[in-house]
Amino acid sequence: MDSGCAEVARHRPEFPLDSPEVPDDRGKVHPDRPEFPEECPESKQEAHAITGIRERVSPPEVESSCAYPSQEGFKRGGRDMPPMSLKGGTVFKDQGKLSFDYLPEKMPHREKQMQRLFQLFRPLLEANIPSNAFVYGSVGTGKTHLSRRFCMELTKKAQEGGRALDHVLVNCRQRMGDDAVMLAILKSYDERFPDRGFSISEKLNVLRTWLEKRQTNIVIVLDEVDALLKKSGSNLIYTFSRFGEEHAGGRGHISLILISQKTDALEYLDKAALSTFRRTSAVEFGKYTRDELKDIIQIRAELALHPGCVGGDVLDLISDIASEFGDARYAIEILWNAGLLADEESSEEIAAEHVRGAKAAVHPTGMEDRLKALDKPKAIVLLAIARKIRRKAYITTGAAEEAYSLVCEEYGERQRGHTQYWKYLGDLDALGLIDAKISEKGVVGKTTLISLPEIPAKTLEGMLVEILGTKKSKTAK
Ligand SMILES: Nc1ncnc2c1ncn2[C@@H]1O[C@H](COP(=O)(O)OP(=O)(O)O)[C@@H](O)[C@H]1O
Ligand SMILES: [Mg+2]
Repeated sequence: MDSGCAEVARHRPEFPLDSPEVPDDRGKVHPDRPEFPEECPESKQEAHAITGIRERVSPPEVESSCAYPSQEGFKRGGRDMPPMSLKGGTVFKDQGKLSFDYLPEKMPHREKQMQRLFQLFRPLLEANIPSNAFVYGSVGTGKTHLSRRFCMELTKKAQEGGRALDHVLVNCRQRMGDDAVMLAILKSYDERFPDRGFSISEKLNVLRTWLEKRQTNIVIVLDEVDALLKKSGSNLIYTFSRFGEEHAGGRGHISLILISQKTDALEYLDKAALSTFRRTSAVEFGKYTRDELKDIIQIRAELALHPGCVGGDVLDLISDIASEFGDARYAIEILWNAGLLADEESSEEIAAEHVRGAKAAVHPTGMEDRLKALDKPKAIVLLAIARKIRRKAYITTGAAEEAYSLVCEEYGERQRGHTQYWKYLGDLDALGLIDAKISEKGVVGKTTLISLPEIPAKTLEGMLVEILGTKKSKTAK
């Protein structure tokens, strides 16, 4: 299984450490150890399947080397019990191919975007001149995976041409703020780099020393970059774009790929940072059409399922359902869950009814995983907003805080002070789960208004109640 987090390590010819800033004992490579343990916080959490259908843990946005549930759990029968069929009682031959960790080798219908990225990064490849790209498009359009694939191919090409190149992808929703992003970058080189004790500028110096020592450049992919921009502004991006400028040899600099679901994410960049991101560096990822989705899941079905376990008409149905959102992740998740339902019923193939069952259980837009990743205090703040905002377009922060007080009581959660409450709102805003904006000056003067950007309040409330319920019952055990 591929692991995005380990990519830097895989491409490094030698370990970069013994910079003066870092004690010597940190510089050992541990091949047996997962390279990015903290990139997969869910591995420490218990799995709580909202639907009761699937029992998987990995959220789609985490680039991790988390182990995936093996097929072991789905095998039926034991020594005394003959397998249900020749296929061993399951429609799956390799469930890992349906997981979000699986990075497809080829991504059909994304050839244009791949070409465009190579075009934008030609200066880097041919002349060691830093290059940048802004990748945007809605959820499930292949932005993260194509960028990872691109970085891998770019690195390979650079190495073939005798140029050293590293790359790392950081998900800014999981690594909130400049400091956390810097830490993730350094940990991609050395997992034991300490969580505390280094300021941002010290961390930048460590990175500079490592790149210089290794005589290499790096491509940093900042995924879901709007979370970083909202939380910390554009300082870090500006610093990155000027990194290594003083070196004539064209080494030690940073190229950036910024990824966002929002077309206008770059509006958060200040002028100085924006100047490095010309309009021409944008790469659009459109929603997939029904036919494109069909191609994608057809290939996935061949990789993941035993031959003959799914018919073309069933794949048509899945593509139809997912085409409403143009979201490949949704299509793959429906296929996966439909397979689990087929297994549950000991059916030898996936039928339309399994797809319909899976549809009812799978939520589009990856919202479920994003909500599960919230800690309890923030989930409670969001639940209060979801309840209060029903039948309204906006609510004031005052109204939200009142509702928060009630929900805290209901869930036996300590109500946090005003400052902390605002911090939670800020984080939810940066995570894109709420939209907070200052109102136009009206009768009541300026006030901050909250709206829900992506999902009906009722659906959000239902999902949060379920998640909080699971959290409650898990703690109660
Ligand atoms: N063109 C494609 N071919 C094969 N799989 C794809 C394609 N586009 C997306 N996927 C798959 O769909 C899922 C979502 O893709 P991802 O890159 O995470 O989307 P985004 O980052 O735009 O939300 C992943 O499992 C990915 O492998
Ligand atoms: Mg993504």
